[in-house]
Order: sequence, then structure tokens, then C-alpha cells
Amino acid sequence: MKRWVLIVLVALGLGAVAVIVGFSQILLVRWSSREGIPPAPANLQASIEQGDKLYATNCSMCHGSDGHTPTDTGRWMYPRASDLTSLEVQQYSDRELFWIVKNGIRLSGMPAFGRVESDEHIWNLAHYVRTLRGSAHPASGGTGH
Ligand code: HEC
Repeated sequence: MKRWVLIVLVALGLGAVAVIVGFSQILLVRWSSREGIPPAPANLQASIEQGDKLYATNCSMCHGSDGHTPTDTGRWMYPRASDLTSLEVQQYSDRELFWIVKNGIRLSGMPAFGRVESDEHIWNLAHYVRTLRGSAHPASGGTGH
């Protein structure tokens, strides 16, 4: 077989794998977050404030302090650290965000925080991520930024 044919085939194969992994990731999050998610803290405002602090120590080193501009570390990863203000991320439900933070994303740099953080802290983080919607919903951003 000619070499370029092989290269094209390999590239197509990798592309297909990327699509399948991406798609199964979404399905995995959808399904797994249906059950076994503990109740969220009742005081949303306090939860967001706690989440803000937790975000600064746990997440900003990859996702950037605004969640929108990944740091160099996050940018060099493949796949790169997501823009947390983007529509794709904000489309997740609160429970799905909780699940992602707790379990991480397989085959990527996104760590699973379930081993190091309590469920309550993970809820705080999910609630805080919810407030990072500046660029996805500029009109409803309120006083954010
Ligand atoms: C070591 C770097 C790193 C840290 C720390 C990190 N992330 Fe991530 N995160 C990533 C990468 C890389 C991705 C992209 C994964 C992908 O696209 O498959 C990601 C993706 C995400 C996503 C979106 C998942 C999706 O489907 O697009 C959310 C939400 C998220 N991170 C939240 C957080 C929160 C909250 C924290 C802190 C508790 C955090 N991340 C800490 C690297 C990191």
C-alpha cells in the first residue's frame, strides 16, 4: 500500500475514534448523572461563594480564573481545557456538572475530584461554574464580571 493511503486511513481512523469518544462521553454523563447524585446544598448563595474559593485553588490552573481563557497548561492539553462559559458546557444540567467534576473526563486532563473533595464541595463548584456564563449568555449575565 502506498504510504499516503496508509496515513489517510490512520487519520480517518483517529478522527472516527475522537467522534465516538466525544459522543459516548456525553451519553455517559447523561446516563450516569441520573442516579446517585446527592442533594444540593440548600443555600445557593453561600454555595456559590464557597465554590468561588474552591475554583481558585482547584480549577483555575487549567481553566483560567474566568473559566473562559484556559491557562498555558490547559491550552497545551489535548483535548484542551474547556471554556466553562461556553454554551456546550452551560448546556449541562447542574447534576451533570456535579457528575463531571466528581468523576472527571476519561482520557483527558480533566481530573476526578471525587477522591479529594466532599460532595458538598463538588456541589459548590458546580454551582459556581453555573455563574460563569458571561460569554455564553451575555444578556443574562447580570452583575457578573
Ligand atoms: C489539570 C487540568 C484541569 C483541572 C485542574 C481542571 N480541569 Fe476541567 N477540564 C480539563 C480538560 C483538559 C477538559 C477537557 C476535557 C474534554 O474536552 O474531554 C476539562 C473539561 C471540563 C468541563 C467540561 C466537560 C465537557 O464535556 O466539555 C468542566 C465542566 C470542567 N472541566 C470543570 C472543572 C472544574 C469545576 C474544575 C475544578 C474543580 C476543573 N475542571 C479542573 C482540565 C482540567
